[in-house]
Amino acid sequence: MNRRQQILERLHLSLPIVASPMFIVSRQALVLECCKNGILGTFPALNNRTTAGFEEWLVEIKTELAAESARTGQPLPPYGVNLIVHKTNPRVMADLEVIVRQQVPVIITSLGAVKEVVDAVHSYGGLVFHDVTNTYHAQKAIAAGVDGLILVCAGAGGHAGTLNPMPFVAEIRRMFDGVILLAGAMSTGRDVASALQMGADLAYLGTRFIATTEAEADEGYKQMIIESGTREIIYTASVSGIPANWMVGSLRAAGITEEQWDQKAKADFGAEHEAKAWKNLWSAGQGVATIHDNLPAADLIARLGAELREALAEQAARLEQYTPKSVG
Ligand SMILES: Cc1cc2nc3c(=O)[nH]c(=O)nc-3n(C[C@H](O)[C@H](O)[C@H](O)COP(=O)(O)O)c2cc1C
Repeated sequence: MNRRQQILERLHLSLPIVASPMFIVSRQALVLECCKNGILGTFPALNNRTTAGFEEWLVEIKTELAAESARTGQPLPPYGVNLIVHKTNPRVMADLEVIVRQQVPVIITSLGAVKEVVDAVHSYGGLVFHDVTNTYHAQKAIAAGVDGLILVCAGAGGHAGTLNPMPFVAEIRRMFDGVILLAGAMSTGRDVASALQMGADLAYLGTRFIATTEAEADEGYKQMIIESGTREIIYTASVSGIPANWMVGSLRAAGITEEQWDQKAKADFGAEHEAKAWKNLWSAGQGVATIHDNLPAADLIARLGAELREALAEQAARLEQYTPKSVG
């Protein structure tokens, strides 16, 4: 068994899907529903305001998943935590200590791929997946010893990249024998099938999970996602200082003008505008185009599975059409 297969085997997934960590939006309720329904559920450590509160969430999730696993007699997928490894995050060391103490099974690092963090997580047998938007950062993460790379491509919700997933997955596959997670604008089981077809091992879905009952998001946010198409999403650094995808409707509602969001660097929207990134300026990826409902996560996951199987079967059926006919 190769390295990728060994890692995937440890995840006990029923579907090749990760519900990605989202600031404010993903909390214990969503994580638990994801894991109980066969996919990997995650949340950012910073979604709890304190390190002590973060540890309480971990204990709650661990206890509930252990009880569910004992009840069904089946291993469940693990849960994951996003740790922002950057000097702007003063909690990084304290949160890492908690992660090691609670032996969090999967850590998703963003911004810094640091060998010390990877070694700390490996010390208790945990896995590290790292977010990247280009091959330069991928190489640094590979050197730091990560187990998986999350390729954040064009159209993704949150801080997105600009690369097309097809060449990016192929390029990373040539340099990395770990797990490849593809992120960006996937909302259906057919999209997940496309990610696998491109060579990714797992699909990493964010925006789709905002429109679920368990997500911590305003009803207005969920409704805007349902009503939006690709035209309603803009890619700009003006809101948070790092290029990200935002819903135009939420910027307009906060009184922000096109001229302001067209700025290349972080803009000062002025005190008269109630502009608070993430809280009332809403981020979403281009995958809004294929989101038409708000539903319990369990129902969404069941549907993603059915759509994935249908798409794979359709692909297999094409084999017949394109198999060379023997001549004569
Ligand atoms: C509202 C929102 C908040 C996010 N917050 C975080 C975060 O705190 N940490 C992180 O690693 N990624 C964050 N992301 C990025 C997602 O984890 C993931 O990369 C992205 O949503 C995948 O693209 P998709 O939304 O098109 O499916 C966020 C995305 C969204 C939409």
